[in-house]
Amino acid sequence: MLSKHLIDKYNVPAPRYTSYPTVPYWSKDAFNKHLWAEHVTSAFEISNKKDGISLYIHLPFCESLCTYCGCNTRITKNHAVEEPYIDAVLKEWAMYCDIFGGRPIIRELHLGGGTPTFFSPANLKKLIKNILAYADVHPKADFGFEGHPANTTYEHLKVLYDLGFRRLSLGIQDFDPKVQFIINRIQTFEQVKEVTEQARKIGYTSINYDLIYGLPLQTLGSLVDTIEKVGIPMPDRIAFYSYAHVPWIKPGQRRFTEKHLPSPDEKRALYDLGHSMLTDLGYYDIGMDHFALPDDTLYIAEQKSELHRNFMGYTHQYTRLLVGLGVSSISDTWDAYAQNVKTVEEYIVLINNNELPVVKGHFLSAEDMIIRKHILNIMCKGETEWNHREEPCHGLMEGLERMQDMVKDGLVDLNSYRLIVTPTGKRFLRNICMAIDARLWADQPSTQLFSMAG
Ligand SMILES: C[S@@+](CC[C@H](N)C(=O)[O-])C[C@H]1O[C@@H](n2cnc3c(N)ncnc32)[C@H](O)[C@@H]1O
Repeated sequence: MLSKHLIDKYNVPAPRYTSYPTVPYWSKDAFNKHLWAEHVTSAFEISNKKDGISLYIHLPFCESLCTYCGCNTRITKNHAVEEPYIDAVLKEWAMYCDIFGGRPIIRELHLGGGTPTFFSPANLKKLIKNILAYADVHPKADFGFEGHPANTTYEHLKVLYDLGFRRLSLGIQDFDPKVQFIINRIQTFEQVKEVTEQARKIGYTSINYDLIYGLPLQTLGSLVDTIEKVGIPMPDRIAFYSYAHVPWIKPGQRRFTEKHLPSPDEKRALYDLGHSMLTDLGYYDIGMDHFALPDDTLYIAEQKSELHRNFMGYTHQYTRLLVGLGVSSISDTWDAYAQNVKTVEEYIVLINNNELPVVKGHFLSAEDMIIRKHILNIMCKGETEWNHREEPCHGLMEGLERMQDMVKDGLVDLNSYRLIVTPTGKRFLRNICMAIDARLWADQPSTQLFSMAG
């Protein structure tokens, strides 16, 4: 059990490092779309030849607002919004296919949201069929989608399975009726169990449940009940997210107050309880809130040091090029990032003007590239090595200096060329990475930018 002193000491706002530099530290200059297109073309050449490419599609619509939600969503019950949005996404895909200058081989495809299952099976079929009309599918392809248990139908599962999807992620959050009521996220255990069983019967090979600890009105008792219920269908993976309370960015979270939230100590106890119950059930702690059963691809990749992390979180596939389609999506060419506009209206206007809907981005400096590599190694392998002579990096040197305290606290073992995260340190990956986040230290935030690491 970790000491309260250690938890409190490192319970500070910290990024989740799905990228480096993190979005708040991307350059503020006007983003050069032409230079971005050039980066995409050259990354495509390398990526497509070697591993294929990854594709993330953001489907932002939800019929109701979950008050805890930190994602980019558009709340509506008007399903007439589906087709114009899909048409716009397909036009964006066509623009990228022109920029590629070759036929893409899709290695990884993920539908995220919002709620992808807000869309009808027919419209999702139209979307994927038209995406695949201009691409080939990699022999080791991994297609996955996020579904809402209350609106994911047998037809959704079957249509997407027939299009190559084998991975399903269900947003569960918590099964306690009081918690579900205050977060306005109503779904029964029976609904979740039925969708899971249907998916397995159809042939899905990896099912993930998203759970959150630290939600309003959540107690140790309610969490025990939730995880005991999860232990019945035993999904292959579990994302056990720390609730990110950011009401200054997400006004929906003002539907409850801090007094409804577990205290930092109670939240720590919720994590410790969840962690021990999940590992007792046989789940392996991958790191950063992710757990997997030993026969799941994420665990196998972790054991073979082939784990990767991108904007979709931990993944067992790596491609140099990740293209994000749809509102607020982020693309990654390894040496640059670009993010799309966040509103559906702006997105459709830019697309209809035949303009890439990117609104901001960042071209990585030489130092950014080095630090990014080390942050990924720490996040995915729990260790990293450097050679200051061959690859001098002032930002890294300063960061390693800052880690002396973490050495004393037993979070990392450090020598002149190598860093190893200790078993204790695995709980503090965000803090360890933040120590070498040169851009953050060079311009420390005056307001809270990130959720608490604890
Ligand atoms: C895009 S959503 C999931 C898809 C779908 N909309 C759903 O709710 O089932 C991705 C996941 O992010 C997590 N999430 C959303 N807001 C969060 C927050 N404020 N703190 C922590 N996790 C959050 C939830 O576990 C959610 O399932």
